[in-house]
Amino acid sequence: MGMSADSGLVSAPARADWTIDQGWASYTPEDHQVWLTLYDRQAALLPGRACEPFLGGLKALDLRGQGVPNFDVINARLGALTGWKVVAVPGLVPDEVFFEHLANRRFPAGRFIRKPDQLDYLEEPDVFHDVFGHVPMLTDPVFADYMQAYGAGGLRALHLGRLHNLARLYWYTVEFGLIETPDGLRIYGAGIVSSRGESQFSLEAPSPNRLAFDLMRVMRTPYRIDDFQQVYFVVPSFQRLLDETLKDFDPLYQQLADLPDLGIEAIEPGDQVFTRGDQAYARAGGRLPER
Ligand code: PHE
Ligand code: FE
Repeated sequence: MGMSADSGLVSAPARADWTIDQGWASYTPEDHQVWLTLYDRQAALLPGRACEPFLGGLKALDLRGQGVPNFDVINARLGALTGWKVVAVPGLVPDEVFFEHLANRRFPAGRFIRKPDQLDYLEEPDVFHDVFGHVPMLTDPVFADYMQAYGAGGLRALHLGRLHNLARLYWYTVEFGLIETPDGLRIYGAGIVSSRGESQFSLEAPSPNRLAFDLMRVMRTPYRIDDFQQVYFVVPSFQRLLDETLKDFDPLYQQLADLPDLGIEAIEPGDQVFTRGDQAYARAGGRLPER
């Protein structure tokens, strides 16, 4: 789940916090099979690619189970580990509602699951992206604190008119982040771990740039929502990510008001480069080359 584009909102909610019942009993056998198919595909790809906290979280929460997980079952375990819980929402929710949930250690997750003909791509986050992608990292105590702090920061950015900058931080960490480990780069971003294609592309393709995480740099870098990323940012550790983001962003937002955005595929003078991409994938038109 991410922040909304206003056009994606569903109609008025029954509850003020936009939560709904998951309605676990109404998933069909086909829904459960989609979960298992997606789970098994990713479970085969992610050892050696995803970071240890993610893989450990998958195990600790027993996310394969018998199909689409029941949020009540997840929450009993997750609550004991870090005090987070998953709540069901009908789809994308307004930014303020989303941040308010995160700031209170509640992760809003879609309840619907994609159809068997949409295994590789869909536009709105479903329960597989939200739960398989995001929830394992919430078992990591430092990352759990980062997500909560992000929610509080989102509410502040919203009122300061800098949400477009802060949203890039979410995108390039929570959704598409990489981490440096003694064994090499590893994935922690939910948008990557829940995608068969991007689990490989993000680490192995010669096309994208891979750059060291820098807070201001990230907040000046636009992103694409409809295809593999052209740039990934690499954090040295989750503790460093948390330490850097806990400082007051007000002075940063003031500077950002006068600084131009950077090119999505640019390498800037101050960048620490892990891999300089050739951008061949993006230049050939990406996912829809005939476009
Ligand atoms: N420190 C940020 C602020 O002052 C809040 C924040 C924390 C944002 C963690 C993102 C992640 O607004
Ligand atoms: Fe997401």
